[in-house]
Amino acid sequence: RLLILDFGSQVTQLIARRLREDGVYCEVWPYTADEARIRAFDPQGIILSGGPASVTHGESPRPAPAIFGMGLPIMGICYGQQTLATQLGGRVETGDHREFGRAFVDVTGECAITQGVWSPGAREQVWMSHGDRITELPPGFRVVARSEGAPFAVIADDARRFYGTMFHPEVVHTPHGAQLLRNFSRLVCGARGDWTMGAFRAEEIARIRAKVGGGRVVCGLSGGVDSSVAAVLLHEAIGDQLTCIFVDHGLLRGGEAEQVVSTFRDRFNIKLVHRDASDLFLGALAGVTDPELKRKTIGRLFIEVFEEEQAKIGGADFLAQGTLYPDVIESVSATGGPSVTIKSHHNVGGLPEGMRMRLVEPLRELFKDEVRALGRELGVPEAIVGRHPFPGPGLAIRIPGEVTPERVAILQKADAIFLEEIRAAGLYDAIWQAFVVLLPVRTVGVMGDGRTYEQACALRAVTGVDGMTADVYPFDVAFLSRVANRIVNEVRGINRVTYDVTSKPPGTIEWE
Ligand code: XMP
Repeated sequence: RLLILDFGSQVTQLIARRLREDGVYCEVWPYTADEARIRAFDPQGIILSGGPASVTHGESPRPAPAIFGMGLPIMGICYGQQTLATQLGGRVETGDHREFGRAFVDVTGECAITQGVWSPGAREQVWMSHGDRITELPPGFRVVARSEGAPFAVIADDARRFYGTMFHPEVVHTPHGAQLLRNFSRLVCGARGDWTMGAFRAEEIARIRAKVGGGRVVCGLSGGVDSSVAAVLLHEAIGDQLTCIFVDHGLLRGGEAEQVVSTFRDRFNIKLVHRDASDLFLGALAGVTDPELKRKTIGRLFIEVFEEEQAKIGGADFLAQGTLYPDVIESVSATGGPSVTIKSHHNVGGLPEGMRMRLVEPLRELFKDEVRALGRELGVPEAIVGRHPFPGPGLAIRIPGEVTPERVAILQKADAIFLEEIRAAGLYDAIWQAFVVLLPVRTVGVMGDGRTYEQACALRAVTGVDGMTADVYPFDVAFLSRVANRIVNEVRGINRVTYDVTSKPPGTIEWE
């Protein structure tokens, strides 16, 4: 296992992703972690991340100096390289030549990190993001690669197994970056790369059993990837001590509620309470048009219904949640202070606050793609594991204006057609999210000999990796026309189809 100390770079998590993709377990901690905590974790090596600070400015963030005396391999990336160099007796200055984005380095030597990846004499593409550079190497170090702006683009002290890169090997814009990181973790630190989802499954099942004992666990199931995988894993660990509660707000995609019930109850034999509360939710949403009020209404009712159902089954000792690693990762904020980042604006359908139960969070060490891999390992159907993300408030935030049962039904039909066509064209997995938005606008159309005056809808399909940014998916016009034709012909109530081509930012993925 490796430890990544975070200095606040936007891409620190990617270091963890690259290592884990290679089967090496690692955790990301704030740089402020003290020596005792680090020793207790017993890492095979430490990576110092990049960060926005400058070591040339007074009190810059520094890792515990003790890490340099533990006999562990250390790799500093960008800011991490600079603090490593400064703390070990080198010199860093603010250069006139700043390098941001794509850059090239000339490989001048060899070291364990570049072995088999870069050869001396080669010119290699990397991704830089720095204003400072090392001007004097600390004792024991030598140069392995240089760039125009950074004479010490890669440095190495083979004896102590300390390495530094001026650039970010963790991003895809450094084409061989993952291999450089792999050399560090495998060759230098001796990590075995045996952290697989199969191993995780066994370890986590043992942990769940140890924690829960003979207690009862209740789990909110939404049919989304995270809660589904959490439920199946828990069921494998504790069987009938688990009860899942599926609060059906009637705002899921067409046919999805039935699919959730049949998958978990019939196929996995999980004790499942399916509460069809659509009338309650749609009743409370009558007249509500403000997006935030919609979210709050749904969130409040969700908790109420969940608590009701929970009381009916006689309570539980533990509440299971599908919390993921990015939600709990302790990160360093851009201002340099350590902070815990917890997503808050997307918490609809989440933890019923104030419940006096202990938490079980079997996925809290995993990234989304790892949850998917675990789901496949557990035999969760591909239709669930590979599914596009879906917001907790469901179709309510895809119906700007008032949500009525009629509008929900119209949207479900249009949405099903769009997704069917996307699947038929083999595009589903290339798209991060695709859905239809029902617009509160009526427009004039002509069908046969008659004039129509019905609602318009917008198709939305974006690519992306984490929902933070998104680009429009470039469908060809023939595809869009086919979808438009089918929707207008098959869905009563819609007579016009548009395609939303806004990226995020400045747009958001959802319309509300
Ligand atoms: P936006 O629309 O903010 O969405 O670009 C980013 C991602 O978050 C999802 N989303 C939500 N998920 N409750 C959720 O559980 C919400 O209230 C919510 N709002 C947006 C959205 O679908 C996208 O994946």
